[in-house]
Amino acid sequence: MTVLGLGLYLSSPIHALFEKEQFAVVNADLIHVERTVSVAFLSVAIDTSLITEEKYINLLGSQKLRTLAKGLAPGYLRFGGTKADFMRFHTKEVATRQQAFSRQFGIKPGVCNRWPISPETEEYLKSEWILQEELILMEEHQNHCSKLNISGSTVDMLYNFANCSGFHLIFGLNALLRTKTNTWNSSNAEELLNYCQSKNYSMSWELGNEPNSFMKKSGIRIDGTQLGKDFVHLREILRRYKSFQDSGLYGPDVGQPRDHTENLLEGFLETGGKVIDACTWHHYYVNGRDTSLSDFLSPEVLDSLATKTQEIFQVVNETVPGKKVWLGETSSAYGGGAPGLSDTYVAGFMWLDKLGLSARLGIDVVIRQVLVGAGSYHLVDSNFDPLPDYWLSLLYKKLVGPKVLAATAFTHLGTESKLHRVYMHCTKSNSQNSGTGAVTVFALNLSKKTSTIHLPPLLSDKTVVLYLLEPAGEDGLHSRSVQLNGKVLKMVDDTTLPVLTGIPLPVGSPLKLPALSFAFYVVKDANAPACR
Ligand SMILES: *[C@@H]1O[C@H](CO)[C@@H](O)[C@H](O)[C@H]1NC(C)=O
Ligand SMILES: *[C@@H]1O[C@H](CO)[C@@H](O)[C@H](O)[C@H]1NC(C)=O
Ligand SMILES: *[C@@H]1O[C@H](CO)[C@@H](O)[C@H](O)[C@H]1NC(C)=O
Ligand SMILES: *[C@@H]1O[C@H](CO)[C@@H](O)[C@H](O)[C@H]1NC(C)=O
Ligand SMILES: *[C@@H]1O[C@H](CO)[C@@H](O)[C@H](O)[C@H]1NC(C)=O
Ligand SMILES: *[C@@H]1O[C@H](CO)[C@@H](O)[C@H](O)[C@H]1NC(C)=O
Repeated sequence: MTVLGLGLYLSSPIHALFEKEQFAVVNADLIHVERTVSVAFLSVAIDTSLITEEKYINLLGSQKLRTLAKGLAPGYLRFGGTKADFMRFHTKEVATRQQAFSRQFGIKPGVCNRWPISPETEEYLKSEWILQEELILMEEHQNHCSKLNISGSTVDMLYNFANCSGFHLIFGLNALLRTKTNTWNSSNAEELLNYCQSKNYSMSWELGNEPNSFMKKSGIRIDGTQLGKDFVHLREILRRYKSFQDSGLYGPDVGQPRDHTENLLEGFLETGGKVIDACTWHHYYVNGRDTSLSDFLSPEVLDSLATKTQEIFQVVNETVPGKKVWLGETSSAYGGGAPGLSDTYVAGFMWLDKLGLSARLGIDVVIRQVLVGAGSYHLVDSNFDPLPDYWLSLLYKKLVGPKVLAATAFTHLGTESKLHRVYMHCTKSNSQNSGTGAVTVFALNLSKKTSTIHLPPLLSDKTVVLYLLEPAGEDGLHSRSVQLNGKVLKMVDDTTLPVLTGIPLPVGSPLKLPALSFAFYVVKDANAPACR
C-alpha cells in the first residue's frame, strides 16, 4: 500500500499529541481504489412477519413511509425472514382476508403517485399493529412458527412499494415445502412465479432463511448439498420464465459461522454455488435480550464482524472463488433488537462501523434488518417516524460512493487505533462534485473525551464540509432523535425530507469530533487520483 502523506491528523499539532491519552493519525491511499461495492450497497429488508396477518401489508401504502423509503433508494428490498419458510402463496381463486380488506377500504395498488391508503386507514392499521407486533415478538421468542398465507394482492402491494420507492424486490421463497424424498417441492413457488410473470414484475429470489436452524424451527433437517441442489432446481425453473430468465438468485442466507453452519455453507456452495449471484449470510453482534450500552461502544464487539466475515470468505474462496458475498440480513441485536439501544442514537456506532468495515472487507451489499416492522432494530418506528439510524443511512446514501479507499487510524504507538475508527470512500458523485476527486471520510469516536482533528498540510488548503451527528434532547446516547450540526432532523411534512446541509469549515481550521459521536467529512476538492 502506498501510504501518502495525505493523512488526516486527529488531535492537535504533533508535539501536543503525545501529551494526550489517545490520539490518532490517519493514513490513506488516495491513488488506488481498494475495491468497489454495489451502488445498492446500503439496502434494506422488510420481514415476512409483517404479513402474519395480510392486511398489514397495506401499511406500505403510507405516503410518509414511501417518502422515507425513497430517500434511501436505490437499493434492494429483501422480503424474507423466518416466516418465509412457513408461507404459502394462495392463488387468485382463494378469497383471502387481505382481498376482503382491500375491497372494504377501496385499496387498489398500482399507480405510483396515487397513494393507495387513506390517512384514516393508516391510523386504523397502526393502532391494530401495536398488538400484532407484540404477538410476533412473543412467537419469535418462543421459537414458534405458525403458518401464513400470501395472496396476489399482497404481492402487488409489496411490489408496488418497492418499485415506486426505487427498490428492487428480492422475494424469499419457502424452502420447507418438501417432497417425500426431502427435495424441495417447487409447485407453490411456480404458482407465485406464474402470477408475478402475468404482472410483468421484475424481481429476484431467495430460497430458505437460516437453513442452519431448520431442525430447531421445523424438525426438518436439510443438508447443504441438498439445499444447493434445490437452488439448481429453482434456477432451472426461473430459466423457463421470460420475466425471470436473468433474475437474481441469492442464498443460502445462513446464520453467522458457528457449529455446523460452515459445513452447511460449504456443501451448499459445492452443489449450488454456480447458480447463485451472491452468497448471503446473516450477522448480528449481540443478543437483544442480553446486551448493554457498553457492547454498542466496544471496539472488540465491533471487530467481531471482521472475524466472522473472514470465516465466510475462507469458505467462499475455497469453493466458488470470486463469488460476491452479501450480508443478506443484518442488524445490531438479534431477537428483534434491544429496546432502548437498537432504536436509539447509540445503534449508529454498530451501523456506521458495519457499513465502513464491510465495504473494506469486500462485502458487496449490506441489507439492514429492517426498514420498518416488528422489533426495535427498525430504521422507521411503528408510527413511521424515522429513528437515528434512518438519518444516518440517509446521510450515508447522499455522501458515500461505491469506491472504497484504504484508510487506517494509528495511535502514537503506531498500532491501529481501536477507539477511533475511520473509513474513506470517494464521495458519491452528483452534478456538483463529479470529476473533482472528492473524498468522504467518516469517523467514529468511541472515546469519552473531546479533541480535535487537524488536516495535514497537503489538505489544509481544501474546503472540508462537516456533517456531525449527535444525539438530540436529554436522553444522550439513548436518544431517539438526532441532530445534524446542531439542528434536530425531522421530516418537513409527509412528502418532504429535510435538506441535509453540511457546514463548510474555514480552510485550515481544526475539526472537532466530540467524544462518543460520529461524523462525515467531505473534502470537496481533494483531487484524489482514485476518485477523479
Ligand atoms: C390460508 O388459506 C387457507 C385456504 O384458504 C386456509 O385454510 C388457512 O386457514 C389459511 N391460513 C391462515 C394462517 O390464514
Ligand atoms: C419498476 O418496474 C418497472 C416495470 O416492471 C421496471 O422496468 C423498473 O426497473 C422497476 N424499478 C425498479 C427500481 O425495480
Ligand atoms: C407438491 O405439493 C403439492 C401441494 O402443494 C402436491 O399436490 C404435490 O403432489 C407435491 N409434489 C410432490 C412431488 O411431492
Ligand atoms: C406485460 O407485458 C406484455 C408484453 O410486453 C404486455 O402485452 C402485457 O399487457 C403486460 N401485462 C401487464 C399486466 O402489464
Ligand atoms: C478471499 O479472496 C479474496 C480475493 O481473492 C482475498 O482478498 C481475501 O483475502 C481472501 N480471504 C480469505 C479469508 O481467504
Ligand atoms: C475522541 O475523543 C478522544 C478522547 O478525548 C480524543 O483523544 C480523540 O482525539 C477524539 N477523536 C477524534 C477523532 O477527534
